[in-house]
Amino acid sequence: MQEILGLYPSWYVPTIGSAWVMGIIGTIHVLASHTSVGASWLFALLETKAVRENKPELMEYIKKYGVFLLVFSYIIGSITGPGIWYAITVASPKGVGGLIHNFVWVWAAEWVYFTVEVIGVYALVYLIGKIDPRTHLKLTWVFALASWATMLLIVGILSFMMWLGNENWYQTGSTLDAFFNLNFFAHLGLRTAFMFAIAGAVGGILAATMKNETVRTDITRFLAKMGLAGVFLGMIMWMWYVQTLPENAKIIMQTQLPGYIAPTLFAVLAATIIYFAWSAWKPLQLKQGFAVAMTAVIAIAGLWPEERSRESIRKPYVAGQYIYSNQTISRDVPGKQIESNLPLIAEKGVLATHPFVPETLRTITATNRLQAGEFVAKVMCANCHSMEASGLRPMVKKLQGSTDVEQIKAYLGGALYHGLIPYMPRIPLPEMERQLVAEYLASLSKHTMTLSQTQTHASNTLVMKGD
Ligand code: HEC
Repeated sequence: MQEILGLYPSWYVPTIGSAWVMGIIGTIHVLASHTSVGASWLFALLETKAVRENKPELMEYIKKYGVFLLVFSYIIGSITGPGIWYAITVASPKGVGGLIHNFVWVWAAEWVYFTVEVIGVYALVYLIGKIDPRTHLKLTWVFALASWATMLLIVGILSFMMWLGNENWYQTGSTLDAFFNLNFFAHLGLRTAFMFAIAGAVGGILAATMKNETVRTDITRFLAKMGLAGVFLGMIMWMWYVQTLPENAKIIMQTQLPGYIAPTLFAVLAATIIYFAWSAWKPLQLKQGFAVAMTAVIAIAGLWPEERSRESIRKPYVAGQYIYSNQTISRDVPGKQIESNLPLIAEKGVLATHPFVPETLRTITATNRLQAGEFVAKVMCANCHSMEASGLRPMVKKLQGSTDVEQIKAYLGGALYHGLIPYMPRIPLPEMERQLVAEYLASLSKHTMTLSQTQTHASNTLVMKGD
């Protein structure tokens, strides 16, 4: 059996937790990347029309949108893409490690396609009007297919993070078993649909600036049709996607997501449909400012709740239903020679086995109990429960202000050991460490109580879960 937990130092982000940092960067990245993949398909489809119907004037628009993409999507995308890597590497080193051990060649392949994509967009903008239209059209299709291939490869990785949906990979450790998981096709369909919708909305920003009214009408209608197709396809894909989610995700969706999420998403959906329908009907009335506003609505009220939910419903896991988001490995994966950390934690505790415990906390004395409790709580719980009074599932709120150590300890027992709450991971801390965490949490409660006297109802309302 292992002697040391394979853990890295924890990145502690007060109040919002590291998951939100990821969520914010991720949302910006998704906006930029889906816009560019969607636009690549728009270019290919629109240019096919331009060549078939001999309408070279449409190419003017593709040029404009292409330059816009270079400045907007590719710069923002290339900043936030590595940004995600930096953030997840500190927020979730075990999670990233797990992904790299499965998908290193998938990422390598993705990188090749990405290179084709970036060279493609430069070449296609630069070569408009300089080479024969049919050759240019081929170039644009290469750009579109390469762009979509990057999405396809990343979606395989993202959906592995959600879950596998079967036992194969745990036994074989094979990349294909990891990649073609239950969730993959529905997720790919969903993102593909979304890319059409967002590229349609962003496209309006540039369509509104076209001087020639016939061209403007043509393009705005084209965008609207593409956007509507994306929205309707997206709704179907969403229904399929939900069917492929694991049980814990369904429970969290039903019971844990903030109440505003579902109504907000429906409102955005309705607004998007109306927006596209209206711009198809009255293309010349579409103003640039309005298209900008619509893009912002989709990004802020649509994408953010969606990305946030996807991060939340995966809980308690960060990847493959074997790594908790606090970095603990929760099951054996024979196919990868990975062993669960839980038996070691149960037997020896975190303080004796975590490689980054300060020497002063290795042995518990009368004076370091609180710090030791804080260490265990921050390493094992803070990824999902904020230790501050507000933010992500604050610990003190769970305790409803209780400062009674025995009571808290009993309550923690209910949460930590049974794995009965499907979305709260089983973390079998030994008796001693549960005691230390309870003492630390009691001190947190005391502290917040003196800060805000509003929590007067305090300890007697605490539901006893017992152990
Ligand atoms: C992977 C994320 C995650 C980690 C890590 C985590 N929790 Fe939780 N915990 C949850 C979720 C999700 C819930 C249920 C949602 C809610 O009630 O807000 C929950 C609920 C709880 C509850 C309330 C249980 C009940 O009966 O309603 C307690 C107590 C608790 N956690 C304690 C802890 C402690 C102590 C740790 C660290 C040793 C910890 N949690 C680590 C996600 C986590």
